[in-house]
Amino acid sequence: MERDKKCENLIEELLTKLTLEDKIGMIHGAGLFRTESVDRLGIPVLYMSDGPMGVRAEFANDEWRNIGTTDDFVSYLPCNSAIASTWNKEIAKESGRVLGEEARGRGKDVILAPGINIKRSPLCGRNFEYMSEDPKLIEELVVPMVQGIQENDVAACVKHFAANSQETERLWVDTKVDERTLREIYLPGFLAAVEKGGIFSLMGAYNLLNGEHCCANQWLLDEVLRKEWKYDGTVISDWGAVHDTKKAAECSLDVEMDVTYTFDQHFMATPLLKKVRSGEIPESLVDEKVRNILRMMYRLHMIGEGKETRKRGAYNTKEHQETVLSAARESVILLKNEEHILPLAESGIKKVAVIGQNAAKIHSNGGGSAEIKALYEISPLMGVKKLLGGNTKVCFAPGYVVPGETEQSAVNWQADSTKHLEEEKEAGAQRKESLTEEEKNRLEEEKRQTYRAQALQLAQECDQVIFVGGLTHEDDVEGKDRSGMKLPYGQDELIQALLEVRPDTVIVLYAGSPVEMPWEKSARAIIWSYYAGMEGGTAIAEVLYGRVNPSAKLAETFIRNLEQCPAHTIGTFGKKDVVEYKEGIMVGYRYYDSENTDVLFPFGHGLSYTNFEYRNMKVQAAETADGKKRYEVSLTVCNTGVRDGKEVVQIYVAPKAPSVKRPVHELKAFAKIECPAGEEKQVRFLLEEEDFSYFSEADKAFVADHGAYEIQAAASSRDIRLMAEVMV
Ligand code: BGC
Repeated sequence: MERDKKCENLIEELLTKLTLEDKIGMIHGAGLFRTESVDRLGIPVLYMSDGPMGVRAEFANDEWRNIGTTDDFVSYLPCNSAIASTWNKEIAKESGRVLGEEARGRGKDVILAPGINIKRSPLCGRNFEYMSEDPKLIEELVVPMVQGIQENDVAACVKHFAANSQETERLWVDTKVDERTLREIYLPGFLAAVEKGGIFSLMGAYNLLNGEHCCANQWLLDEVLRKEWKYDGTVISDWGAVHDTKKAAECSLDVEMDVTYTFDQHFMATPLLKKVRSGEIPESLVDEKVRNILRMMYRLHMIGEGKETRKRGAYNTKEHQETVLSAARESVILLKNEEHILPLAESGIKKVAVIGQNAAKIHSNGGGSAEIKALYEISPLMGVKKLLGGNTKVCFAPGYVVPGETEQSAVNWQADSTKHLEEEKEAGAQRKESLTEEEKNRLEEEKRQTYRAQALQLAQECDQVIFVGGLTHEDDVEGKDRSGMKLPYGQDELIQALLEVRPDTVIVLYAGSPVEMPWEKSARAIIWSYYAGMEGGTAIAEVLYGRVNPSAKLAETFIRNLEQCPAHTIGTFGKKDVVEYKEGIMVGYRYYDSENTDVLFPFGHGLSYTNFEYRNMKVQAAETADGKKRYEVSLTVCNTGVRDGKEVVQIYVAPKAPSVKRPVHELKAFAKIECPAGEEKQVRFLLEEEDFSYFSEADKAFVADHGAYEIQAAASSRDIRLMAEVMV
């Protein structure tokens, strides 16, 4: 990133005036989400906040206690998995704008987002916070998202650097990854955020990478990030990711944050102060950290001449809610639609059954650090009711039991005020507490059977049946990985039973990571939505009833079961001490397509209510002024159906005779186009030489083999519509 001379001069001037104590105050947490100011020199506190789906609630300075004010409700954005499913760079930018503007509106300087770790296994608890299994898709979306955030004088903080794709023992697990795999798969998103996105801050991950903690990893932070990528922004540790004063001082980490409240005892607080005073650690190392922080502050207009013009942000605006709705609409994926049972008819419908707990569940308040206090959240049930109006009876049945969840009380203050009800309630609670495990299980089983019977009965009485199940933040959560890919709470059995009594049941799954779908063959229509923000339920209803033509595509492969996943069968996952990424570059479709695995739904898959045909593909080679070869790929996409729609055209490059092991093909470009019914659109892509290359460990560089490559224009990684061959 370009350096500003005035900024560098100001930094040097401030450094002459800052005492060692001042500087130490700036490089470690002085509160759970802030550093210390130096008021006499006009250096403000740096305020940070999570996270990827909206600005997190206000916490006490020195206690993990949500202070419970009423002024920290915010817009709840679709999670990154949902944004990635839109394959829409403009949406990534607009979502970033909302996040940045709200963060600034709430007085924050750094928003701890976006999360861009690679989805290596469906089991990672934080997959919902991440975008994809594919580095190219991440690269293309992270750049506009970062730019959108930073337009608001707020720093994005891309996380977690690097190879942080599991939650199990996340503070201590050593992640073993070879360099080629890091360069091709795990680092490109971060590189794009730095080089193209101009990101101001970056979060060092908890885990160890090849034997050294990421926040003390000289190869990662000094060699790659600072020297090679020339990053001069701020590196912030994940909360509690620093373990050693000397190592933290010596490597390119600038701010130590922690989950504990003993701020003075952080490794980069008093312990560092003492070591600098004793001469064990040179003060120049501290200065370098302060430089990086001040540079970020200058870029955010927190210090220097631009101070007066710093943007002030805004939150909970109507525009934000509209942006969030547009993003949600494009994130809902139509996985299957046999016999065109979708979209459902809106008129002439008397009774609709909506079955399943996720139809009525609020998700925004869960997930770990990504939790937020949403101003509102439209559930799928409300979405359907809102859309159909009062002349259609929409009946809800929970369908399955979520153990431990308290039933909604049937009493209100009026009923409560009658003494006998109070007493009965109390006696009921006492009876429940004294139950043995066995009795509890029996009661739960009874409840399960009742719920199921109710649901099946309802399904037979209604004109339309919509099941909304999936996962919740009980499973998609920070700090733990899932134990398997099965849907919890007996949902598979319920879905199967529903499909038996009503084969036209529409299955909607609302979740953060893929699940097994053993009933898939019996289902005619399947809709998938990630946690899609405060308007998620509106978007689902609009897709169900055809007010929105779905246009999202999978940003990750949906496999049938875990036994198909190379992270588990070739490498290791979820281990406590060491995880080995032995599958190397063969992550996601790179592996499944190379091995021809019989997956459930491939990467890039997603249906529309219209049809698109791909025609007239051409590839032309051209030379740029600097002598580099470029390939221009063009094709025509025709909307041959009767509805307007959007299509994601994907370009994969397949080496014909690679000199090293390579995936059968890799995504190198994509575009989302809007095409009215009966019309056609020209699409153009430019492929550069690097789009043909792989990382050669011997050359320590990306190199491209000479020879033939196939360029594929595809509607998913398994639906290649056109191809052309080029010689490189
Ligand atoms: C998470 C980060 C988060 C931080 C602050 C950590 O536990 O890994 O993603 O930003 O906490 O809440």
